Amino acid sequence: MVCLFAKADLDEGAALGLEVNNHYLFAVKKADQIYLYWNRCPHLGTPLEWLEDQFLDADGALIQCSTHGALFQIEDGHCLAGPCRGKYLQKVPYYIENGLVLVEDTHLRPQVLA
Ligand code: FES
Repeated sequence: MVCLFAKADLDEGAALGLEVNNHYLFAVKKADQIYLYWNRCPHLGTPLEWLEDQFLDADGALIQCSTHGALFQIEDGHCLAGPCRGKYLQKVPYYIENGLVLVEDTHLRPQVLA
Protein backbone atom coordinates (compact mmCIF):
# COMPACT_ATOMS: atom_id res chain seq x y z
CA MET A 1 0.00 0.00 0.00
CA VAL A 2 1.23 3.49 -0.84
CA CYS A 3 0.03 6.63 0.90
CA LEU A 4 -0.43 9.40 -1.67
CA PHE A 5 -1.60 12.39 0.36
CA ALA A 6 -3.96 13.50 3.10
CA LYS A 7 -7.43 14.19 1.72
CA ALA A 8 -7.67 17.38 3.76
CA ASP A 9 -4.51 18.74 2.12
CA LEU A 10 -6.16 18.94 -1.30
CA ASP A 11 -8.39 21.99 -1.58
CA GLU A 12 -11.87 21.79 -3.03
CA GLY A 13 -11.70 22.36 -6.79
CA ALA A 14 -7.95 21.84 -6.91
CA ALA A 15 -5.72 19.24 -8.55
CA LEU A 16 -2.49 17.62 -7.45
CA GLY A 17 0.19 15.90 -9.52
CA LEU A 18 1.71 12.81 -7.90
CA GLU A 19 4.79 10.70 -8.57
CA VAL A 20 5.08 7.25 -7.03
CA ASN A 21 8.02 5.02 -7.97
CA ASN A 22 8.29 6.70 -11.38
CA HIS A 23 4.55 6.40 -12.00
CA TYR A 24 2.69 9.63 -12.57
CA LEU A 25 -0.84 10.21 -11.36
CA PHE A 26 -3.01 13.15 -10.47
CA ALA A 27 -5.92 13.77 -8.18
CA VAL A 28 -8.80 16.25 -8.33
CA LYS A 29 -11.11 17.12 -5.47
CA LYS A 30 -14.67 18.02 -6.41
CA ALA A 31 -17.71 18.09 -4.09
CA ASP A 32 -15.46 16.58 -1.42
CA GLN A 33 -14.78 13.54 -3.61
CA ILE A 34 -11.32 12.52 -4.77
CA TYR A 35 -10.84 11.45 -8.40
CA LEU A 36 -7.54 9.75 -9.14
CA TYR A 37 -6.18 9.12 -12.65
CA TRP A 38 -2.99 8.23 -14.43
CA ASN A 39 -1.33 11.39 -15.70
CA ARG A 40 -1.47 10.19 -19.27
CA CYS A 41 -3.56 11.65 -22.07
CA PRO A 42 -5.40 8.97 -24.09
CA HIS A 43 -4.48 10.88 -27.25
CA LEU A 44 -0.66 10.60 -27.26
CA GLY A 45 0.12 9.36 -23.78
CA THR A 46 1.68 12.62 -22.66
CA PRO A 47 1.31 14.18 -19.20
CA LEU A 48 -1.70 16.46 -18.99
CA GLU A 49 -0.62 19.46 -16.94
CA TRP A 50 0.78 22.71 -18.30
CA LEU A 51 2.29 23.79 -14.99
CA GLU A 52 2.78 21.95 -11.73
CA ASP A 53 -0.62 20.83 -10.40
CA GLN A 54 -2.48 22.67 -13.21
CA PHE A 55 -4.78 20.01 -14.66
CA LEU A 56 -8.05 21.93 -14.95
CA ASP A 57 -9.48 24.36 -17.48
CA ALA A 58 -9.92 28.05 -16.68
CA ASP A 59 -13.29 27.45 -14.99
CA GLY A 60 -12.01 24.51 -12.97
CA ALA A 61 -14.92 22.52 -14.40
CA LEU A 62 -13.05 20.05 -16.61
CA ILE A 63 -9.66 18.37 -16.81
CA GLN A 64 -7.70 19.77 -19.73
CA CYS A 65 -4.77 18.31 -21.61
CA SER A 66 -2.17 21.00 -22.19
CA THR A 67 -0.84 19.45 -25.40
CA HIS A 68 -3.87 19.70 -27.70
CA GLY A 69 -6.58 20.93 -25.34
CA ALA A 70 -8.70 17.79 -24.89
CA LEU A 71 -11.33 18.24 -22.17
CA PHE A 72 -12.36 15.49 -19.75
CA GLN A 73 -15.10 15.18 -17.16
CA ILE A 74 -13.67 15.20 -13.67
CA GLU A 75 -16.03 12.50 -12.41
CA ASP A 76 -15.31 9.75 -14.92
CA GLY A 77 -12.47 10.96 -17.16
CA HIS A 78 -14.66 10.89 -20.27
CA CYS A 79 -13.22 13.05 -23.05
CA LEU A 80 -15.89 15.50 -24.22
CA ALA A 81 -13.86 17.43 -26.78
CA GLY A 82 -10.52 17.22 -28.56
CA PRO A 83 -8.62 14.63 -30.59
CA CYS A 84 -9.40 11.76 -28.18
CA ARG A 85 -13.10 12.57 -27.85
CA GLY A 86 -15.03 9.57 -26.53
CA LYS A 87 -12.01 8.01 -24.83
CA TYR A 88 -11.35 7.99 -21.09
CA LEU A 89 -8.58 8.88 -18.71
CA GLN A 90 -7.66 5.78 -16.77
CA LYS A 91 -8.80 5.80 -13.15
CA VAL A 92 -6.61 4.48 -10.37
CA PRO A 93 -8.49 2.62 -7.61
CA TYR A 94 -7.86 4.01 -4.14
CA TYR A 95 -9.31 3.98 -0.69
CA ILE A 96 -9.31 6.38 2.22
CA GLU A 97 -8.25 5.40 5.70
CA ASN A 98 -7.79 7.83 8.59
CA GLY A 99 -8.07 10.70 6.11
CA LEU A 100 -5.23 9.39 3.93
CA VAL A 101 -5.60 8.51 0.25
CA LEU A 102 -4.06 5.07 -0.25
CA VAL A 103 -3.37 2.91 -3.30
CA GLU A 104 -2.52 -0.78 -3.40
CA ASP A 105 0.88 -1.50 -4.93
CA THR A 106 -0.77 -3.82 -7.44
CA HIS A 107 -2.57 -0.85 -8.94
CA LEU A 108 0.73 0.93 -9.57
CA ARG A 109 2.29 -1.69 -11.79
CA PRO A 110 3.03 -0.70 -15.39
CA GLN A 111 0.76 -3.35 -16.91
CA VAL A 112 -2.31 -1.47 -15.71
CA LEU A 113 -1.33 1.21 -18.23
CA ALA A 114 -1.94 -1.13 -21.15
S1 FES B 1 -1.88 14.71 -26.17
FE1 FES B 1 -3.64 15.30 -25.02
S2 FES B 1 -4.96 16.12 -26.49
FE2 FES B 1 -3.23 15.49 -27.66
